[in-house]
Amino acid sequence: MNNNFTRDVENALDNLHINGAFLTGGDLKSANTMTISWGSIGFMWRKPVFMALVRESRYTNEFLKSGEKFTVSIPYEGELKEALKICGSKSGRDVNKEELANIKFIPSKSVDTPVIEGCNRYYECKILYKNEMDLDNFDKDLAEQFYKGEKIGHILYFGEIIEEY
Ligand SMILES: Cc1cc2nc3c(=O)[nH]c(=O)nc-3n(C[C@H](O)[C@H](O)[C@H](O)COP(=O)(O)O)c2cc1C
Repeated sequence: MNNNFTRDVENALDNLHINGAFLTGGDLKSANTMTISWGSIGFMWRKPVFMALVRESRYTNEFLKSGEKFTVSIPYEGELKEALKICGSKSGRDVNKEELANIKFIPSKSVDTPVIEGCNRYYECKILYKNEMDLDNFDKDLAEQFYKGEKIGHILYFGEIIEEY
């Protein structure tokens, strides 16, 4: 088990929710990344876990739902701001994000899903559990605010953090 997953977690979570991070699925031959700002890091099933929320419509979800791994790459201090903007507004279905956002997929340490070059904090994760949000069980006001007229909310991906650096 990775016992260091809480290292620098305050910075990691601040940068995640304020500036965004790259959530990547796939492998070195074919990968896609998108910007996320929601997520959590915690301890479940006696394992360190990163939980990400992904809309079914995202191209990245195609990689996550058929894959077993994902990575999270977090730039600090507003770095890669333009790339986060592009990866959070364009779809990999329509554009080549590596070219358009001027980012580079580089090999991870332990999983075949790449990370994004030049970030400050990385999590490599093995998917343990995924679940579509059942809106009948969700807070009514938030359901109205975020998912009005929709059947499912986000898909929750719980990934065991097997590397952090
Ligand atoms: C700051 C920011 C945060 C975002 N956070 C999320 C998120 O947590 N979950 C999600 O599904 N989409 C999120 N998005 C939207 C996706 O990044 C966006 O729809 C992206 O274009 C999807 O790309 P893809 O189709 O290539 O996967 C966010 C966008 C921005 C700009």
